[in-house]
Amino acid sequence: MAINKVKGMYDVLPSESHLWQALEQKIREILGLYNIKEMRTPVMEYSDVFHRHTELSDMVTKETYNFDDRGNRKLTLRPEGTAGIIRSYVENKLYASQELEKVYYIGPNFRYERPQKGRYRQFYQFGVEAIGTISPALDAELVILAYDFVKRLGLKGVRVKVNSLGDDISRETYLEALKKHFMPHEAELCDDCKARLKKNPLRILDCKIDQNHEAVKNAPTPQDYLNKESRDYFLKVLDHLDAAKISYEIAPRLVRGLDYYSHTVFEVEADIEGFGAQNVLGGGGRYEKLVSELGGPNLGGVGFAFGMERLLLALEAENVDFAKEKELDAFVIVFDEALKTEATRILYELRTSNMIADTNFTHKSFKGQLKQALKFKAKYLIFLGDEEYKKGMVSIKDTKTEKQEEVLLSKVKKYLLEKMEK
Ligand code: HAM
Repeated sequence: MAINKVKGMYDVLPSESHLWQALEQKIREILGLYNIKEMRTPVMEYSDVFHRHTELSDMVTKETYNFDDRGNRKLTLRPEGTAGIIRSYVENKLYASQELEKVYYIGPNFRYERPQKGRYRQFYQFGVEAIGTISPALDAELVILAYDFVKRLGLKGVRVKVNSLGDDISRETYLEALKKHFMPHEAELCDDCKARLKKNPLRILDCKIDQNHEAVKNAPTPQDYLNKESRDYFLKVLDHLDAAKISYEIAPRLVRGLDYYSHTVFEVEADIEGFGAQNVLGGGGRYEKLVSELGGPNLGGVGFAFGMERLLLALEAENVDFAKEKELDAFVIVFDEALKTEATRILYELRTSNMIADTNFTHKSFKGQLKQALKFKAKYLIFLGDEEYKKGMVSIKDTKTEKQEEVLLSKVKKYLLEKMEK
């Protein structure tokens, strides 16, 4: 019986993997410019890493894959990268050697969401965290990096939205105001929002069910409740964004779906038809309590993450030619099965000189082999035939110029190397 993949998950097939490789390469290239190092943490953590808080987001309460291992430990497949990075930052006392730790990560995450285009149960994120200090310049640095990143990928229809939730005091005042605002409408809200009203009314603002309710549309925004310190902080962030001359929008209603943010929050949206709510390519913000909640000192951080499937969908939708499949340098076409060992010798020799080379392994006819070579876009065809072999020769054809030459078997590598240098 054939078994299918798990619902909401997908395979990257051989014809698609070059896109993923190119995206990852681009990420590493760009992050290098910002002097940011990679960090890798496990895909699973003790559940407490994610389930720490009373104000839990939907992602943590309803969407995580939780299970007990054979030793009855409670584990969770990571739904996002940040918490695991902070767990490791604290566990390895990275704060002791570095005032500011800037890291990036690439890896799979798991959320039990309703699958649709751009939303999966296993998805890849590329993210950045800068942990150890609070500074408007650093918040701006991350927004600028997110902007620069999508631009360098070649995406055009993207918008960067920023907002501030303010410090703890502003946030608390705002939450109280939100509660007051929604209380008279409690009975009209969905069951989830009824619960959110008590625990964390911020979540009501990005509820997918109640999004068109008048009370949600008219809700006060965090901007209305920023105290002076928070407002000054936000204005400084904006000064830095202006200094870098990046284009952004202030989005007063942007609150983000996770529970740990304060001060700056931001998202990168794409204008892509058919993407629906999945047009948010990435988002992030400042977090002040995560490090201490996970047992570390009282240090803040700021970060963001992009969904890599969404980036690839956006690149495809905008027809950005950012990844080329590798073309073959040479393909060996064999006329006689008996000459296959000679093909093996030639191939190995070419590869030791870093040429991309292949041959046919499935007993195809001459025509079939030729078709295969052209499909791989081989630059040179090496014809290994009886007659020539007896003379110690092969024929090599340049597929671009269509020119064909006889070459001594012992000179194949040298010949191709010289040709390719030109
Ligand atoms: P997030 O907004 O939950 O933030 O996720 C970031 C990005 O991951 C989203 O904008 C989206 O592109 C992608 N994403 C999320 N869920 C899915 C899904 N089910 N399928 C496909 N793509 C998805 C975070 O995860 C925070 N950790 C970001 C952050 C880092 N904040 C501070 N530091």
